[in-house]
Amino acid sequence: MEKLLITGPTTLKGEVEISGAKNAAVAILPATLLIDGVCTISNLPNISDVKLSCEILEALGAKITWEDKNTITVDSTNINTTIAPLELTNKFRASYYIIGAMLGRKGAVQVSMPGGCQLGARPIDQHIKGFEALGATVTVEKGLINAKAEKLEGNSIYMDIVSVGATINAMLAAVLAEGTTVIDNAAKEPHIVDVANFLNTMGADIRGAGTDVIKVRGVEKLKGGTSYSVVPDQIEAGTFMLAAVASQGDLLIKNCITKHLESITAKIIEVGGHVEDNGDSIHVWADKRPKHATIKTLPYPGFPTDLQPQMGVVLSLAEGTSIINESIWDSRFQYTEELIKMGAKINAQGTRAFFEGVDHLEGAHVYSTDLRASAALIVAGIVAEGETSVYNLEHIDRGYENIEEKFRKIGANIKRVNE
Ligand code: UD1
Repeated sequence: MEKLLITGPTTLKGEVEISGAKNAAVAILPATLLIDGVCTISNLPNISDVKLSCEILEALGAKITWEDKNTITVDSTNINTTIAPLELTNKFRASYYIIGAMLGRKGAVQVSMPGGCQLGARPIDQHIKGFEALGATVTVEKGLINAKAEKLEGNSIYMDIVSVGATINAMLAAVLAEGTTVIDNAAKEPHIVDVANFLNTMGADIRGAGTDVIKVRGVEKLKGGTSYSVVPDQIEAGTFMLAAVASQGDLLIKNCITKHLESITAKIIEVGGHVEDNGDSIHVWADKRPKHATIKTLPYPGFPTDLQPQMGVVLSLAEGTSIINESIWDSRFQYTEELIKMGAKINAQGTRAFFEGVDHLEGAHVYSTDLRASAALIVAGIVAEGETSVYNLEHIDRGYENIEEKFRKIGANIKRVNE
């Protein structure tokens, strides 16, 4: 069994480069199905979710050429089936984007119910609501989703819940629909803007992405022959920012969009850390134990749920008692059980957790339960005294490019070993 063996504590110091955003990449790749031609996508994070997305595209008939480890050319001229391989689509959550893209491209698709991190109930009713508003018929039976539409027509879609996935899926299905679609109560995450920018570069007419009303004027065709670079990863940047604070270190985090990091910056300052915004890089340092804080996760521009576990490590080490309210997912505190093994004092009750700060953590054998929990456990291992073994690496490999190398470069004593 593979594990990460970390010996701490380490004060992280130095520079780290942020990769392209996982959550943008896993939506942009399916979006290439809407193009009747070739496009090149660069700054893709080299992670297993991206490789899986590429395998799904290939199974549908797209031709993919890897130009280098972060750049691909996709030729979607010959999409020759509407059935996505179930053994691939059930492996991760973002496979639901195949539905919107294939409805747009072929007017039909069959996929499995999406897999992905177990963070509580993950319904797709808002996705289906969007497709149906545009004229599709969707059935969900025995773990399979079948969607079809003779013709997609623009319509108004009011999202009952702010959903990243449902917003992007509605955009994907609307791009080639006849007429105008208005998505109301849309999510505003940076990757929504990035997917809209990608589609617009290919000839789509999407306005308002990044606000809560998105207007999509259907176009007849998306043209290929264009290149696009994926936006830097907000969550990876935030992970390193919080790692700087937890280790009382000093990091220059390069290749990020600091505007996307404002909610994290605000909380870091509140707990006594320092942040210097340089536009395309952010300098974060801390010279003393963090102060306690109260956090509530919210859709963008609020504090992201995907940084909640990493913030949990900071608050485990803070002076006094802190509270995290998780408002997006109903089961996102499994990682606290692992931090408790390392000496943290956490009382998690439903969607709220109380952190009574301790002055240090101790190395232990810990098991990742999901992607962001893995990142939190790695940070905890780096700041803990002694040896930590982090297991279940398939989670971290889904979403962070070269994580141990990046942490090693800033001083961590971390290696991947096969037990
Ligand atoms: C995306 C991210 C995930 C992040 C989440 C919230 C990707 C691939 N994943 O997930 O990392 O944690 O945004 O920022 O981008 N909901 C419904 N019905 C629906 C859809 C969602 O009730 O049809 C609920 C969910 O249960 C959840 C909330 O809406 O409580 C937000 O979910 P959503 O924004 O859709 O998350 P994902 O797009 O799945």
